[in-house]
Amino acid sequence: MTTTTSGTSHETPAPWWKEAVFYQIYPRSFADGDGDGVGDLAGIIERVPYIASLGVDAIWLSPVFTSPMHDFGYDVADYCDIDPVFGTLADMDRLIACCHEHGLRITLDWVPNHTSLLHEWFVESRSSRDSPKRDWYVWRDPGPDGGPPNNWRAEFGDMPTWTFDETTGQYYLHVFLPEQPDLNWHHPDVEAAMHDTLRFWLDRGVDGFRADVVHLIGKDPALADLPDGPGKALTTIDEPATHRMLRGIRTVLDSYEHEPMMVGEVCLFRPGQAASYLGDGSPDGEGDELHLAFDFRATYARWEAERFGRTIDAIQRDAVEYDSWPTWALSNHDLPRHRERYGSGDRARAAAVMLLTQRATPYLYAGEELGLPDAVIPPEAVVDPGGRDGCRAPIPWAVDAPHGWGEPTWLPFVDDAGSHAPDGEIGSSMTDLYRRLLQLRRTRPVLRLGDQQQIETDGTVVAWSRTFGGDELRIAVNFGSEPVPIALDGRIVEGSHRNDVAFDGVLQPDEAVIVGS
Ligand code: GLC
Repeated sequence: MTTTTSGTSHETPAPWWKEAVFYQIYPRSFADGDGDGVGDLAGIIERVPYIASLGVDAIWLSPVFTSPMHDFGYDVADYCDIDPVFGTLADMDRLIACCHEHGLRITLDWVPNHTSLLHEWFVESRSSRDSPKRDWYVWRDPGPDGGPPNNWRAEFGDMPTWTFDETTGQYYLHVFLPEQPDLNWHHPDVEAAMHDTLRFWLDRGVDGFRADVVHLIGKDPALADLPDGPGKALTTIDEPATHRMLRGIRTVLDSYEHEPMMVGEVCLFRPGQAASYLGDGSPDGEGDELHLAFDFRATYARWEAERFGRTIDAIQRDAVEYDSWPTWALSNHDLPRHRERYGSGDRARAAAVMLLTQRATPYLYAGEELGLPDAVIPPEAVVDPGGRDGCRAPIPWAVDAPHGWGEPTWLPFVDDAGSHAPDGEIGSSMTDLYRRLLQLRRTRPVLRLGDQQQIETDGTVVAWSRTFGGDELRIAVNFGSEPVPIALDGRIVEGSHRNDVAFDGVLQPDEAVIVGS
């Protein structure tokens, strides 16, 4: 296996978001405060002490804004209000205050590329070709054959990214659902209005944003056909204009003293492509665009030493080559959970060790600390147009049904849900592991900021070291089904299956250890 060194020790204090561990909450599925079977802000507020007790530093809250819920909140009808399903603005203010009282930062999910078709901007825009807001969205005449203006295909459903509007005789663009029309960020009033939505929340005290598919905002107005034939715009659009727009967004964020941050969902996968959205050139040596960009490579890797060895190495190599700070995540609201993908609780335990020992900002997806798999969704219970219901099952808070929720819940629970509750057999042992790992990350700067170097290994083990000042920890994960001898001297400081014992030189199947002193 190859060897990489990454990073340099920090001489100045690192910004908070480099040292933080984020915890993603999918609000419909997290906790039900009013007993209607759908999660809400009151439910989250009740659980803030639990979240803080895990030892995470910040929350990413998936959208809670006014929405007709065609994409469960990723279709926003009002960026500056809360959907009644979730509560009120006053509840949001309470949640922000409650997080801060418990030492947690809170970041919101900002959806800049598209609105709901019920947003008043779009209602106005589609009302007539002469509407003052016509150009706030992307309208085009039919193509030469009378069909869609180009060959882009939408993300959901087998359809073009264009819907014909009978009233005004033009097509509008939607990279996702027809209910999610794309904004035209080239219009200065759109840019200004979207900046105002950021200020609205920053003024209320939020600590930053996760920016949904943010690489899409600067589309080339030519909207040319994809050269290789019909295909997905989502993973191809990579335009210089977006960088100018991101610098504008950064200026808004930087005008606040509490150091708000933005992590972007950038769905571009060539080496260095996502890192280029961090920009460069600011006087403090940080970039001048996004603070962080998600890295999805680890979410695509199968539970195999070769795959994860390459992935861990590549993420650290790119961090050096592109002078960027990486992110790490194994699950989110768009993918089968990693407990499901890897197929066993033991692997999920080893994965927790792997995730929380990377030189990167880790993102956890609520429920992974309870060892949740995906729910089995019968056809009649399917609600998501993108087939992602399984990873959005309600979090079981109590061992006994209905697990702290009103019934019926909007999606079914996972099988054997009670055992995954924080007091259940699986849930309690997994949360204990996450708490210990998060505590170690807090107390040992080496895990947050230390250099990372891959250690040569054979067979099914992947290992790396972290060093910072005089401190060193070595991490090893056995992806195989046989015990493997490995020469690491020291104590198992933490591990997926044992801790605080001398390492006996043999790594058991699906075991991960952190060895040091
Ligand atoms: C992002 C979100 C996803 C959503 C899509 C459209 O990929 O993560 O949940 O459906 O954007 O907003």
